[in-house]
Amino acid sequence: PRPILLTRHGESLYNVRGRIGGDTAISETGELYAKKLANFVEKRLKNEKAASIQMGTDLQHLIEQSLGELGRAGRKIGLKAIIWTSTLQRTILTASPIAGFPKIQWRALDEINAGVCDGMTYEEIKKNMPEEYDSRKKDKLRYRYPRGESYLDVIQRLEPVIIELERQRAPVVVVSHQAVLRALYAYFADRPLSEIPHIEMPLHTIIEIQMGVTGVQEKRYKLM
Ligand code: F6P
Repeated sequence: PRPILLTRHGESLYNVRGRIGGDTAISETGELYAKKLANFVEKRLKNEKAASIQMGTDLQHLIEQSLGELGRAGRKIGLKAIIWTSTLQRTILTASPIAGFPKIQWRALDEINAGVCDGMTYEEIKKNMPEEYDSRKKDKLRYRYPRGESYLDVIQRLEPVIIELERQRAPVVVVSHQAVLRALYAYFADRPLSEIPHIEMPLHTIIEIQMGVTGVQEKRYKLM
């Protein structure tokens, strides 16, 4: 089995002010989480690396003999974990202290687009757009922000991400956002659609998912 690590970005400046969406940097607390995450990932995935080297030695030897340099490069790539972030600053900054692993930015991992409500607090939405607030409360899964997205939209755009996650043989660290991670987590944990918008997805916590032949196992690490 190879692990998939899911985490939200470290606390952002908008998190501190209770504002949704945006593209702010992370706070000092967020930066501290970024450092702890890097430490965790480097330690956690080093063990993973040792295990795969042991398992694959013979085959790797064979490949290296026949392919020379190319084989050695392939071995390095094959064993490496990959870090996936969204295209938003807060996830990129959170992943930045993680050294020695390739990083890829996915637009599909960006947070739910809150459209006209982007940058507002929930109180401001309630006060200035009470109908919108109420419709979302009534059906959070299907509610689509004006000029933005619904949870169902997010779930749909995650399809290629899920296909790629299933296909990857290396461990993947996904640094993303609350709504997106609720949807990804629900897929692996086999939780019903209706629950997705309400799943707890705290900051500064890593959810480790192991996909093995016998099913999916989950561990949580609260780093702060
Ligand atoms: O508040 C952080 C945040 O990631 C917002 O950017 C986003 O709109 C929200 O969480 C999603 O959570 P919910 O669907 O519960 O509003």
